[in-house]
Amino acid sequence: MLIRRPADIPSSEITPESAYLNRRQFMGAAGSLALAGLAVPAVLGASRGPAEHGDAVGQAQDDKLTPEEDATSYNNFYEFGTGKDDPKRNAGSLRPRPWSVQVDGLVKSPKRWDLDELLRGLAKEDKIYRHRCVEAWSMVIPWQGVKLRDVLARVEPLPSAKFVEFTTLLDPQQMPGQRTGVLRWPYKEALRLDEAMHPLSLLATGMYGKTIPNQNGAPLRLVVPWKYGFKGIKSIVRIRLTDRQPNTTWNDAIPSEYGFYANVNPTVDHPRWTQAKERRIGEFLRRNTLMFNGYAEQVASLYAGMDLRRYY
Ligand code: MTE
Repeated sequence: MLIRRPADIPSSEITPESAYLNRRQFMGAAGSLALAGLAVPAVLGASRGPAEHGDAVGQAQDDKLTPEEDATSYNNFYEFGTGKDDPKRNAGSLRPRPWSVQVDGLVKSPKRWDLDELLRGLAKEDKIYRHRCVEAWSMVIPWQGVKLRDVLARVEPLPSAKFVEFTTLLDPQQMPGQRTGVLRWPYKEALRLDEAMHPLSLLATGMYGKTIPNQNGAPLRLVVPWKYGFKGIKSIVRIRLTDRQPNTTWNDAIPSEYGFYANVNPTVDHPRWTQAKERRIGEFLRRNTLMFNGYAEQVASLYAGMDLRRYY
């Protein structure tokens, strides 16, 4: 992210046109998702329910799922290298079980949970979300997980809590990139508490109907579809509620380029490139980027009255 601009991405790294799902294949893929009990609503033009359910409402009618192979082999996970294909190649050293998650800070009942115990009894969510990277590429990914707010409810946030900080595992044995100084480790991200409580905010444990692969953030990662991809912190071991805005990894590294909010916003350019357009992986022509990544109807009210140029 630090190093490469969209223009620098060699065409060999962009999925060839022939690789993306044509309508027929897509219907097949959607059919198997349906068989797996997953929602495939707007991509098929069918509606699943209120906008709150979030999966591919509004402009998403023309969204096709990104081929699973692309979504699991082209991404950023600097703990496993800085190249787009490094995570898939190197993430085999991560051991996603047993896994414990500490949920603490300004809460009534702080606790270290075994992940499976933390998730037990929580409603399972199936979401198809547009995914917009700050580097101006995008995908459409079916996620499985739980609402972040359901996890937070388990520890009972105190009224003084205003922000939620997330921390990735720190273990250079399992994460060889942490033996380098490319970022300050462990990777951290944060949300305002109201963003975290929004029903679209997901803690994902699966994608494409399968357990989430190591390179995509096993066993637990954040997905906040109206924000740039770097907010989607992977392999989370701690969730801490606080009254002060926490530091976040990319904001610390290059504050002029990566803000705390990181809301997808076509009208506020990254200092080195436009955010008005994006390249959907698997497509040839660039598309217009949508305000809040197309989720404005659901989330714009969170930012009413805020200067989004200043709070980028
Ligand atoms: N989480 C950790 N722990 N380390 C990382 O390097 N990279 C971020 C985010 N989460 C990153 C991370 C960035 S820059 C992006 S674009 C997304 O993960 C990309 O991965 P995804 O496509 O699987 O969401």
